[in-house]
Amino acid sequence: MTPPAQHKNFHTSNPETSYAIDRSLPEFAAAEPTDEDNYFANHQPPTYLPEIEKEVQQFIKYHQENTGKRIALVTSGGTTVPLENNTVRFIDNFSAGTRGATSAEYFLRNEYAVIFLHREFSLLPYSRHFSHSTNCFLDFMIEKDNKIEINPKFSTEMLEVYKKYHQAQVSNSLLLIPFTTVNQYLYTLKLISEDLKIYSNKVVFYLAAAVSDFFIPQYRMPQHKIQSSATQDGELLIRLAQVPKFLSRLVSNWTSGAMIISFKLETDNAILIKKAKSALERYHHQLVIGNLLQTRKKEVVFVSPIQDDKWIKLTDEELQNGVEIESEMIPAVIALHDKWIEKTSK
Ligand code: PMT
Repeated sequence: MTPPAQHKNFHTSNPETSYAIDRSLPEFAAAEPTDEDNYFANHQPPTYLPEIEKEVQQFIKYHQENTGKRIALVTSGGTTVPLENNTVRFIDNFSAGTRGATSAEYFLRNEYAVIFLHREFSLLPYSRHFSHSTNCFLDFMIEKDNKIEINPKFSTEMLEVYKKYHQAQVSNSLLLIPFTTVNQYLYTLKLISEDLKIYSNKVVFYLAAAVSDFFIPQYRMPQHKIQSSATQDGELLIRLAQVPKFLSRLVSNWTSGAMIISFKLETDNAILIKKAKSALERYHHQLVIGNLLQTRKKEVVFVSPIQDDKWIKLTDEELQNGVEIESEMIPAVIALHDKWIEKTSK
């Protein structure tokens, strides 16, 4: 099966050679929660950004003029934090992009157009069923008469996925936009958000990416691979700055009229709802979806100013039968989006 088309002219996992050896970038102060402007003034944008802008604008225009579909911007996967300009090493996080890729499929199934802002090489809608080490596509094949074909055991299931994938492609409903580093993520998110302003309340932001909280600012990133001789008493010390919390900026400046959903990931059940509520109070957006690292595929909680906390849970039996929690989450999100559109259209 052909994987969804990726961008051909650039790879976000390559270092930005234009400034990989530039040491003249200005000093960036330790981040406060309101330092977004400072961040963008002191960090260079990815060079390929104009290419992305063109694609995003064409996609929005197409749906504005031809389909009138609502648009979901789904962010997905983890962000990397390079430790060197010419990056050999980086800090990463656990996110494989399962939540984002799965949710995107259910948005598409519900007639949304989807901009899928994802960590390059993380899971993608549709191809996720047959990729990565747990679902290697070769396991779905058999050899017959010295030819390779799909194992009949899986062909019904594959055909179903293929039809949906094909439909998303021919209807131009899925736009794949990659990032790798936290800097690429922030610049690209800002760009897409601002382009989506004209689509107003027909847009839903579904921010499922696991964004790094700490990074090394460009001005103090080592130029070349850190040498083992750089250690002190056998220890390597790395100083990380806080990534500015961009969500407040997104809500107040980068968007206009869209419904905004953030996620709250915790590992301690006792603080999940409290943290979700405090995010709502701080950022004044419409919904926080809380999940625990350990149980994120089985249960989530919707925390919003307009309804009581609402848990969505799968039973063990449902899980065993392959039910995906996103199949219940996305219709619930869409019901809230309906209400949001009704309220903000008056
Ligand atoms: O990909 P999977 O393996 O399926 O995992 C899915 C998931 C667990 C990653 C996903 O469901 C999820 O919870 N994503 C959000 C994880 C996260 O970043 O949580 P957080 O508590 O660190 O951040 C909360 C919110 O703050 C985020 O929605 C983000 O929009 C915002 N934020 C984060 C960092 C930052 N610098 N500025 C922000 O504003």
